[in-house]
Amino acid sequence: MSLYPEAVRALVDTALEEYFPAADTYPEILYQSMRYSLLAGGKRFRPVLTILAAGVFGAAPDSVLPCACGIEYIHTYSLIHDDLPAVDNDDLRRGLPTNHKKFGEDIAIMAGDALFAEAFSLISRLQTASDQRKIIEVIREIAAASGPGGMVGGQVVDMASTGKPISLETLRFIHARKTGRLITAAARCGAILGGATDEELDAVTSYGTHLGLAFQITDDILDETGSVEELGKTPGQDQTLHKATYPALVGLDESRRLARAEAKAATAAVDKMSGNTGALRDLAEFVTERTG
Ligand code: IPE
Ligand code: IPE
Ligand code: MG
Ligand code: MG
Ligand code: MG
Repeated sequence: MSLYPEAVRALVDTALEEYFPAADTYPEILYQSMRYSLLAGGKRFRPVLTILAAGVFGAAPDSVLPCACGIEYIHTYSLIHDDLPAVDNDDLRRGLPTNHKKFGEDIAIMAGDALFAEAFSLISRLQTASDQRKIIEVIREIAAASGPGGMVGGQVVDMASTGKPISLETLRFIHARKTGRLITAAARCGAILGGATDEELDAVTSYGTHLGLAFQITDDILDETGSVEELGKTPGQDQTLHKATYPALVGLDESRRLARAEAKAATAAVDKMSGNTGALRDLAEFVTERTG
């Protein structure tokens, strides 16, 4: 994890703690369930990306934290619902029993719903009030990345493809949607709030698109090669469930090659930009080298 910006991650962890309502907020069971998954750890990859992307344009972390944390709320909701028995049926997440194992399916579903709504409430706290248009832009961005044209749409095609032979093109579509869109949005929101020009935003979009694919291909690889300790989730589940993954379709070696090619394409996209893009380059390298 040496390539990972741990100080930025710590900022995100502190902000998430601060933003979250007190543990005894009524209905306690709902807030406890939301808090359980949200504050269980995790890499905080998406909010870190938002902060790093904003930094390229000179924006301070504080100025984008509500947006960065809102994206983490949405990601956490997606994990809670992804683990449900009706979807991937997983027992372990972020090193703990999955939300539905701990609180029951009914509360887990509601906790996901509540995190999704709270995300937008948090994002609306952005202090960039001098430019309300930017706030509307990031809200639109995150809504689009989460919904039927983004994460949820990708999850539906993922579920429909389970146990079926699919093409590499379809698999790329699934990965671009279920994971790639929110990662791209995380990068774009940082750039938008940081004041990127249209041209710079295009470069960041290309970076995020390739990075998102590298991220999910690596997630597929780690499901086959990773350990429960490092992943905090049960490896081998994809094969057990006959999920559509890169290793299942093209093998581990080709998956590694493709993940690295996507990371390289991500780096190439930001290399064209002026400004200090070193942190984005390191993050792209981290994505394929990570073990958890
Ligand atoms: C796991 O995401 C689910 C995917 C979209 C691949 P992460 O690997 O970012 O999980 P956390 O947030 O670190 O737990
Ligand atoms: C999940 O992909 C993507 C989401 C939108 C949550 P996976 O199903 O591969 O994620 P993990 O492996 O359970 O974290
Ligand atoms: Mg899944
Ligand atoms: Mg899953
Ligand atoms: Mg996976």
